[in-house]
Amino acid sequence: MAKVVLKVSNLTKRFKDRIAVNNVSFEIHEGEIFGFLGPNGAGKSTTMKMISGISTPTKGSITVCGYDMRTEKEKCLRCLGAMIENPLMYSYMSAYDNLKYFASLYGDVDKNKILYYAKVVGLENRLKDPISKYSLGMRQRLGIAQTLLHSPKLLILDEPLSGLDPAGVKEMREFIISLARKYHIAVMVSSHMLAEMEHFCDTIAIINNGELLEVNEIEKLQQGIEGAKKIRFKVDYPNYAGIIVKNSLKLPVEIVGNSILVQCSEKKISKITSLLVGRKISILGIEVVTASLEEIFMDIVTRKTHGKLEIK
Ligand SMILES: Nc1ncnc2c1ncn2[C@@H]1O[C@H](COP(=O)(O)OP(=O)(O)OP(=O)(O)O)[C@@H](O)[C@H]1O
Ligand SMILES: [Mg+2]
Repeated sequence: MAKVVLKVSNLTKRFKDRIAVNNVSFEIHEGEIFGFLGPNGAGKSTTMKMISGISTPTKGSITVCGYDMRTEKEKCLRCLGAMIENPLMYSYMSAYDNLKYFASLYGDVDKNKILYYAKVVGLENRLKDPISKYSLGMRQRLGIAQTLLHSPKLLILDEPLSGLDPAGVKEMREFIISLARKYHIAVMVSSHMLAEMEHFCDTIAIINNGELLEVNEIEKLQQGIEGAKKIRFKVDYPNYAGIIVKNSLKLPVEIVGNSILVQCSEKKISKITSLLVGRKISILGIEVVTASLEEIFMDIVTRKTHGKLEIK
């Protein structure tokens, strides 16, 4: 089992009479990409601010690389890098000067180190440009380079995909994956866009109304949903094929375009195939379809909050 980099226990934040984060506990390991999902106002940024030492918890504890945030804050901050909301940068200055400035805050202006992290984020050829000439995606990358300057073991990224175009989202996702896989950094990424997090996070935590509803590996979340798995058969006569499968095998079937979607496990594929072929239906393709994160999210929220998706 990989080393625990972050341990959060019973974390709570109260603003006057509003509980923004309520008794949240979880762990993040070395090299893990931990997706922190929830609708607007769920408590994502509040949780991340406490973990980053920006705000003080009302209750609960935070341990980063074994250090306690209450008593060893300085050491915790040495182990983590955080980009919460918009990264701070000076747009009239060049990217290099920005990085130099942030490195100086840690008292460690090593030119090679700055160039190294500029390379990690893929900005090594644009270091002389002023930030005002940077695209949003490039600014996000520079923001991450700033947080990497002191070689943290844990990276906290609040909504790093927001505002990026589809190509930018893909690039940022691949970049985060490389930080985790190549540099073994634990990355906690928040988003309210479920689809963006699919096929990219190792673990998904779902927060709603300040409460952590679920923490699990994405495959396990999919398995937990009843009827999550469907097999898609692309056929020449979908309506006819649908009736045959429904009547002969008593399985739930949907007709979508030129395909039938049968709710069953892979074990039934050969049975369905021979049934259809026996009725002279041509099968043009077969695909296993698992529940999307969107469906998983709605399923968990409905089961655990009795359908109340509270957005404050
Ligand atoms: N400084 C504050 N004072 C009072 N209430 C606050 C403060 N910061 C956050 N809150 C409240 O705490 C709750 C959680 O807010 P938070 O910013 O953590 O949500 P979020 O999950 O990051 O949402 P979003 O997706 O919109 O960024 C909200 O109800 C918000 O109004
Ligand atoms: Mg937020």
